[in-house]
Amino acid sequence: MILEVRDLTKIFGGLKAIEEVSFKVKQGIILSVIGPNGAGKTTLFNCLTGVLSSTRGRVLFEGADATNKRAHEITAKGVARTFQNIRVFGSMTVLENVMIGQHLRSKEGLFTAILGTDTFRKEEDEIRSKALEYLEFAGIQDYADTLAENLPYGDQKRLEIARALATEPKLLLLDEPAAGMNPQETWELMELIKRIREWGKTVIIIEHDMKVVMGISDRIIVLDHGVKIAEGTPDEIRNNPYVIEAYLGKEEVG
Ligand SMILES: Nc1ncnc2c1ncn2[C@@H]1O[C@H](COP(=O)(O)OP(=O)(O)OP(=O)(O)O)[C@@H](O)[C@H]1O
Ligand SMILES: [Mg+2]
Repeated sequence: MILEVRDLTKIFGGLKAIEEVSFKVKQGIILSVIGPNGAGKTTLFNCLTGVLSSTRGRVLFEGADATNKRAHEITAKGVARTFQNIRVFGSMTVLENVMIGQHLRSKEGLFTAILGTDTFRKEEDEIRSKALEYLEFAGIQDYADTLAENLPYGDQKRLEIARALATEPKLLLLDEPAAGMNPQETWELMELIKRIREWGKTVIIIEHDMKVVMGISDRIIVLDHGVKIAEGTPDEIRNNPYVIEAYLGKEEVG
């Protein structure tokens, strides 16, 4: 198991945003986390990545304790994420955005980057060519020198994924990557996520678009009011009466 979450609970004041959530994630799969607005999906990601500390429960990454570690420690362990709202550095180029991602992992770090040492310059060249590879992987290499803020929306989302990949994660968490995308962009995103899995990485994705969820997931967990109400394959979730009642209502699923 690459990730194991045991009885994870996060309480804000009196509100149980997530309540005794447990699940395990096998290496190399795509797991989707679904559930209505306010179900606790983003809070779960925040607790896993050191943005928030959990109230109770445990997180194991590759069998080792990763509960309530700081964000940079989680990154160093090999976990990267994107955010629900786009967070690219708009006034930097697309290439620079990805190079920043790698600096988070680089031996020399930003401090020597600022000092401009020789070791830094050599490493800088490696980082630059590596960054170009990530851009190519995400299909946005033609925009390398474009300011990130000038990219179309769908490409900014792909840039965020490229930047997250540049930290060389084993586990990638994507918070609503398809939100706001048109059908063409969504289709390309699904292909990209599948290629990330083929690369051997594990992906956890929060997503509302059921076409995406049903189309790429190996497994799905469903949260409702902070509680995990179901877990299974896309087929099992599609036919689960609790899911249909709590989340999907009378809507057609998939
Ligand atoms: N930092 C915070 N402080 C207080 N309450 C919070 C905080 N973050 C989230 N919450 C509350 O916790 C609950 C879960 O929120 P969360 O953002 O995790 O839901 P979500 O499933 O990601 O929803 P959405 O689909 O709308 O993104 C909500 O009631 C929200 O208002
Ligand atoms: Mg959310």
